[in-house]
Amino acid sequence: MVGLSFGVSPGEGDIQAPCCTGGCYTCLVLADGRPERSCVSPVRETMAIRTELPDGFTPVRVIHGPQPHSVGGNATPWWLKARGRYIEVAIWVAGCNLRCPQCQNLTTTYDGRNAPLSPRRAAERVTRARHRYGVDRMAISGGEPALDRPWLVQYFSELRALNPDPDARLHLDSNGTLLSRDYVHELIDAGATDIGIEPKGVYPETFMCITGIEDEALARRYLETAWRATEYVVSSYKDRVFLGVGLPYNKVVIGLEEVRDFGRKLASIDPGTQLSVLDYFPSFRRRDIERPQPGEMLTVKRVLEGAGLKAVVVQTAIGHIGPG
Ligand code: FES
Repeated sequence: MVGLSFGVSPGEGDIQAPCCTGGCYTCLVLADGRPERSCVSPVRETMAIRTELPDGFTPVRVIHGPQPHSVGGNATPWWLKARGRYIEVAIWVAGCNLRCPQCQNLTTTYDGRNAPLSPRRAAERVTRARHRYGVDRMAISGGEPALDRPWLVQYFSELRALNPDPDARLHLDSNGTLLSRDYVHELIDAGATDIGIEPKGVYPETFMCITGIEDEALARRYLETAWRATEYVVSSYKDRVFLGVGLPYNKVVIGLEEVRDFGRKLASIDPGTQLSVLDYFPSFRRRDIERPQPGEMLTVKRVLEGAGLKAVVVQTAIGHIGPG
């Protein structure tokens, strides 16, 4: 015990430590003069710890990829999906502030072992992959990319500097729980053009069930932040940014009534916003659940369209099914 407290957001506690699994590197401190992740590094007797990093310190983060992708994520426009060719290159970052029992990207999310990269090195790798696979879209997903704000903002700035052409689409897929207005603004300023936000549900109880967050006040704050970020992108950047919202579906975590309420809430913000519904398959601590059948996903799609949404895409075991 050294008497320092952890928080999840900037300004909370002495150290911001949003993942606590060694993947995001947000919690770096100087321990005996060396940068160490405070969430996973044992404290030794007489260790000298400083929470301020030197001026100009370059943030780092564990990434997986880049890999080419033929489907993309929440903020990939539906009309590009399932054309049978690569449409994006993507990286996935380690570390997440949520603890979803059915995490769909387990090996990346909980990777605290691989060597981290600077934003510049990550952007260079993604740019090389863009040219290798002949695509214009470059995505970052996770884990949760928004955990380390300096890293993510610098990553988009570096990626934009390496890809200044107007065809380049810089795509962020986030759970939205940390995307304050000023953070969204900073990311767009740095070059982000396509933003995916996944609020998980409408009601805090559902959010807690899906994300494994047990602190109700924190769950409410995360849920509200994700919805507010959605509203903000629509109200302030509709002409500049492609917004895609995500909704996980499995009947054991969210019912059709809440699916309908989700649709109504999003339609009240903008009925034309793309909504991608992900069919949650068994994974991690929820190997007991069954992947929804395509017919069930089509029912979800009809419910959402009945709630007023015009661009609903459902992921199914037989591929993505878009509007129309
Ligand atoms: S909070 Fe320590 S590495 Fe993410």
